[in-house]
Amino acid sequence: MSDNVTHRSGRHFLQIPGPTNVPDRILRAMAAPTVDHRGPDFGRMTLSILERVKRVFKTDGPVMILPSSGTGAWEAALVNTMSPGDRVLMFETGHFATLWQNMAKRLGLQVDFVPGDWRHGVDPALVEAKLAEDKGHQIKAVAMVHNETATGVTSRVGDVRKAMDKVGHPALLMVDTISSLGSIDYCHGEWGVDVTVGCSQKGLMLPPGLGFNAVSEKALAASESATLPKSYWDWKPMLANNAKGYFPYTPATNLLYGLDEALTMLLEEGLDNVFARHDRLAEATRRAVRAWGLEILCLNDDEYSSSLTAVLMPEGHDADNLRKVILERFDMSLGTGLGKVQGKVFRIGHLGDFNELMLAGTLCGVEMGLGLAGVPHNKGGVDAALTYLANPDG
Ligand SMILES: Cc1ncc(COP(=O)(O)O)c(C=O)c1O
Repeated sequence: MSDNVTHRSGRHFLQIPGPTNVPDRILRAMAAPTVDHRGPDFGRMTLSILERVKRVFKTDGPVMILPSSGTGAWEAALVNTMSPGDRVLMFETGHFATLWQNMAKRLGLQVDFVPGDWRHGVDPALVEAKLAEDKGHQIKAVAMVHNETATGVTSRVGDVRKAMDKVGHPALLMVDTISSLGSIDYCHGEWGVDVTVGCSQKGLMLPPGLGFNAVSEKALAASESATLPKSYWDWKPMLANNAKGYFPYTPATNLLYGLDEALTMLLEEGLDNVFARHDRLAEATRRAVRAWGLEILCLNDDEYSSSLTAVLMPEGHDADNLRKVILERFDMSLGTGLGKVQGKVFRIGHLGDFNELMLAGTLCGVEMGLGLAGVPHNKGGVDAALTYLANPDG
């Protein structure tokens, strides 16, 4: 691109796995004037949001909305349920699992961090074995990431729950759904999850700024005796205020307008349709990657992520150089490789407010970029995706 080109026509392609493209309906909803967050209209809206958001988590229990990114919601989950020195079982599925365990350690918890290769999800058999060894029930929580945004691997939460039940272990189950909520089916209630952590900027199609904790009765009971220090993240004043539609402090008013609209959109489309759309777009992406002759980072086909696909670069080729070429030539942002896979993978986000033709444009950008960056590949990835998208039921 020549240095004097400052104007870009058309929309930027934001194909990182979050933040995702914010639909116009949500942008318009957020542009409404800010109102009194202690007034009656706001209270009514909050009560409606708190009720409807439960459907997205698939729970009958309370869901708390925090003014934070996902990281704040991780912290709220831990400080409300744990005490200093408590043991927590976590699994190294990738970069975000690693960051969560770093936080747990910094908060004074003892983490048993089970190593992983960043190409597989949490192994339910390993959960069972680890908990079976813990005869004295010293482990207070199993904490896992449902969809590892760094790797495009989705762990089987329902099977982890079954493994915990099989050995009758009373640990809490905490799950990060930051890049799965509203994109990949998730059942807080049915899977017996105690704390589900979520945030706004991915499947919920909002800008960053809202975090979520969906909690079970068992988690609430644990919070009564948990002694890690907490103040801003304390669930108690939040739940007391939420009962009347309010918050213990000034909430992110306009993001809540956006959430109100996002819930309307998700429920209008129907969650099953939302998940099927994500599955379809993910499958088309994988067909393109395979046709290019490139490797998908996720190794188990029952753990493929419907939110994003992480693609391994051929030996000797830098993923960030490819991303740079694509950004400069086609105004598209792809996800960078994080932590251990930096430079080795790029990530295609296909979640949120996204459809077939947006994916077609995305894959065209990748295919052209592979050629321009001199990355060895076969032509025909886009064709393979389009053939599938035109007739996904075969
Ligand atoms: C799975 C997962 N967990 C946690 C986080 C951290 O969230 P945030 O960056 O919003 O604080 C992210 C961010 O992308 C994520 O993808």
